[in-house]
Amino acid sequence: MGTPNDVKTLISSDKLQERIAELAAAIDRDYADSDRLVCIGVLKGSVFFLVDLLKQVTVPVEVDFFQTASYGSATEPGEVRIRKDIDLAIRGSDVLLIEDIVDTGYTLRTILDLLRFRGARSVRLCALLDKGERREVEVPIDYRGFPIDDIFVVGYGLDYDEKYRNLPFIGYIEA
Ligand code: IMP
Ligand code: MG
Repeated sequence: MGTPNDVKTLISSDKLQERIAELAAAIDRDYADSDRLVCIGVLKGSVFFLVDLLKQVTVPVEVDFFQTASYGSATEPGEVRIRKDIDLAIRGSDVLLIEDIVDTGYTLRTILDLLRFRGARSVRLCALLDKGERREVEVPIDYRGFPIDDIFVVGYGLDYDEKYRNLPFIGYIEA
């Protein structure tokens, strides 16, 4: 089988891992004095990135997950639903939100606001991909893997209709 032949490589596995090592080093540096760092992934897309990133982080971390869903186009655009909440209490903790991609920004905006509302000491965002052209609400990315153009990407956690998540690279589907 191998890689489906309609998928072209945008960012190779080697490039991903190289950049992830740099992001992990920056996180290690910034959180060296943290009492408690809670790393939170957004299911399902961020899982592949989160695992590779956190294996390279050496400061102690706790790990948890959100799952979100956007309401369909029939309702308000950008209305985000929390489908699975985190289990850990985060009041007073440093929180690092880990996401695969920031697109319009609605998902992250909602989650970042919620984490601050719950009394996190600090909240930062680490996103592997930044589709800046598509942004509708401002979301500062503290640790950014790669800026990308406005194309639909798959692989390394990202899906098209639940497929392609397990590709070890970021690809795009050739029309
Ligand atoms: P936002 O709320 O528009 O920023 O949506 C972000 C979410 O949309 C991501 O977590 C992905 O699940 C999904 N998404 C956005 N762009 C892509 C893409 O190019 N490929 C796959 N999923 C995407
Ligand atoms: Mg996602």
